[in-house]
Amino acid sequence: MLDELFRNNLSWVERITAKEPDFFEKLAQQQSPEFLWIGCADSRVPANEIMGLLPGEVFVHRNVANLVIHTDMNCLSVLQYAVEVLKVKHILVTGHYGCGGIQSALDNRELGLIDNWLRHIKDIYRLYEKEFEGLDEEQKLNLLCELNVVEQVTNVCHTTIVQSAWKRGQAVSVHGFIFSIRDGILRDMGVNISTLEELAPIYRMQRKSDLLRR
Ligand code: CO
Repeated sequence: MLDELFRNNLSWVERITAKEPDFFEKLAQQQSPEFLWIGCADSRVPANEIMGLLPGEVFVHRNVANLVIHTDMNCLSVLQYAVEVLKVKHILVTGHYGCGGIQSALDNRELGLIDNWLRHIKDIYRLYEKEFEGLDEEQKLNLLCELNVVEQVTNVCHTTIVQSAWKRGQAVSVHGFIFSIRDGILRDMGVNISTLEELAPIYRMQRKSDLLRR
């Protein structure tokens, strides 16, 4: 079974180099992706394939339910490297309908360690509790998948990393996308943030020097 993986790999290399013989030589020189994808670890939501992008074109971070937690050093490190070193122009926070992580957060079944991770999703449910009134189970799941994207987009914007970039005048915008496993379509949710002024005042960080001057 594992042999098949290596055979697949060789035929993939052949397909790419047939089109562009020096593809891997160029790839080895550098990466300069314009996009950072923050998506779910779900095997059905592969960033490159969905967007038709080749190696080198998208920097990727994936975890269960595409969460951006304020203190998650893994996600924050990816974000910092993507913004400050690679200088990506667009951060694509991508959720998907039918997310198992979000389904588990809606259920109250115990799964173990991961319940602590999924608790962040329960917090979102509580924040928007009124919006769920009168919905059936599938509608609830879909709505929570969407609201989760909106919340993670703002979480990205609330980081010191993105706010510092904006203060430096670096153009970086954060977008909310959602993918449907049923039809394979990736949709722009129309949530796009690219300036400090678009954030709720409580989250807008001021420079230390500005605070001293007051
Ligand atoms: Co998922």
